[in-house]
Amino acid sequence: MKVFVPKERSKGETRVALTPDAVKRLAKEGFTVRVEAGAGDGAHISDAAFQAAGAEVVPTEGLRDAFDSADIVLKVAPVGPNDALGGHEAEALREGAVLIGFAAPHKSADAVRILRDRKVTMVAMELVPRISRAQSMDALSSQASIAGYKAALLAAVHLDKYFPLLMTAAGTIQPARVVVMGAGVAGLQAIATAKRLGAVVEVSDIRPSVKEQVESLGGRFIEFEVAGEGEGGYAKELTKEQLAQQQAVVRERVVRADAVITTALVPGRPAPKLVTADMVREMRAGAVIVDMAVEQGGNCELSVLDEDVVAEGVKIIGHPNLAATLPADASLLYARNLQTLLLHLAPKAELKLDFDDEITAGAVLTHQGEVRHAPTRDALAANA
Ligand code: NAI
Repeated sequence: MKVFVPKERSKGETRVALTPDAVKRLAKEGFTVRVEAGAGDGAHISDAAFQAAGAEVVPTEGLRDAFDSADIVLKVAPVGPNDALGGHEAEALREGAVLIGFAAPHKSADAVRILRDRKVTMVAMELVPRISRAQSMDALSSQASIAGYKAALLAAVHLDKYFPLLMTAAGTIQPARVVVMGAGVAGLQAIATAKRLGAVVEVSDIRPSVKEQVESLGGRFIEFEVAGEGEGGYAKELTKEQLAQQQAVVRERVVRADAVITTALVPGRPAPKLVTADMVREMRAGAVIVDMAVEQGGNCELSVLDEDVVAEGVKIIGHPNLAATLPADASLLYARNLQTLLLHLAPKAELKLDFDDEITAGAVLTHQGEVRHAPTRDALAANA
């Protein structure tokens, strides 16, 4: 089985799908691993390190052939246009090949169609079921946790005051007030990081089950009684009235906050607008908002994708891919997730897709000319 790791070329992507450690492990299991020259540059992994681990380094001039001859292509970001290929990555995969990486199927309908029609088996990292058996393959969690950590650091760096309480000879500094919206994987790591830096952290979520987790990290849970628990442990979308009620409940905390970190998401839906333009206007100049939901439309009405904007003196950070700002650890954890998933699908370098297995059935997006993931299939049919 020939595995190929191309260099990631989407904007801002610094991560790489395999690390030298993962290459070693896969080689031991019988895979032949090829890596495009420079694939590890963004994560500061040299071609020599990949070679030393047993990978063959393919020059970019040989990229088309490397795609074409690979049984399995491993990526981080969804496939897209690639100048070095002179075309779309999905079209460079040979028919019947396997592609593993994030797919963002709701945003990449064209790519999914190409993959389906080329009979590529696309295994989408974000579709790996969130079950205990698959925890070591859960790239959504490993990357969200990194992003949550970085969001808290960004808030601290951009804020015009200390995070911790400080008693100095010149006077006492009050700790920063941080509000975290959404206490899923990213939010919990943001809470833990902000607490470690000494901030006072208040947290809003609509799944009552997270209250205990928030409190165990030292956060204060903002009580808001709503049945927001949806399917599979995720939140469900609030009605307009419920959202207005929640805004009213969090308003007072947001307007007096020094920093607000928003991570609130509902699968398949636009991010709930929790921080209104009105609230931002009432916040103090110098406060910071880090909107981690910006790619899904943002939790703050004023955030702009991939930009830092200042509104009434409040800095709003709209970085869409915070995990990529810690490329070393993000790649390390991602490569482990990928390696475990690949060995699950192809033990001893032999592809064995068992669709009775919950992990395989959940994660395979396209196979043998079909879109297996029902919501994506329905969305494609609706847009046909
Ligand atoms: P997510 O990224 O979809 O959402 C982030 C958070 O936003 C969630 O906590 C959600 O409740 C919250 N949210 C949604 N609407 C909101 C609103 N209006 N106001 C405030 N907060 C709102 O979720 P994520 O982080 O991917 O995972 C959520 C849950 O999935 C976990 O807490 C856990 O229950 C489950 N999970 C299970 C795993 C396993 O068993 N292997 C692994 C990872 C997650």
